[in-house]
Amino acid sequence: MAESIAFTPSASRATIYAELLPQIRALIGAESDLVANLANTAAVLREAFGFFWVGFYLEKDGELVLGPFQGTLACTRIKIGEGVCGTAFAKRETLIVPNVDEFPGHIACSSASRSEIVVPLFARRGTPFGVLDVDSDQLDDFGPDDKTGLEAIAELFRN
Ligand code: SME
Repeated sequence: MAESIAFTPSASRATIYAELLPQIRALIGAESDLVANLANTAAVLREAFGFFWVGFYLEKDGELVLGPFQGTLACTRIKIGEGVCGTAFAKRETLIVPNVDEFPGHIACSSASRSEIVVPLFARRGTPFGVLDVDSDQLDDFGPDDKTGLEAIAELFRN
């Protein structure tokens, strides 16, 4: 297994996502365990971009339950349709929230989180089975390049 991930620290986010994608694909292609692969993906994203919080929630019995993550202590359960994570899951689409204080029902796991992007993970038949959640301590930190980059990474987990 790879021991490190190579990327250009000073490059644009789009370039870094492009550099990471084949490496994450290779990393998870060599391992069949979902939790192990989500854990390494969270670590890679945090290392490459320095995001405040990167992690996954997985659907279990009608709720989203905290999965592998990198960052501070987080809420363990989120109802489908609630918060940014539960809303992205229910709507089956990526949500970018430039200012979490302006998102009705935002669930504040940390007061340091200012903006957020949540990308659903889909099973092969198209139903969602979880979300990738990235939080920033900067306002308005996520844009189209993050959406494209993170959706491509989420696509690697289609199962
Ligand atoms: N803010 C999220 C909850 C998860 S934490 O950010 C890690 C939400 O509103 O769904």
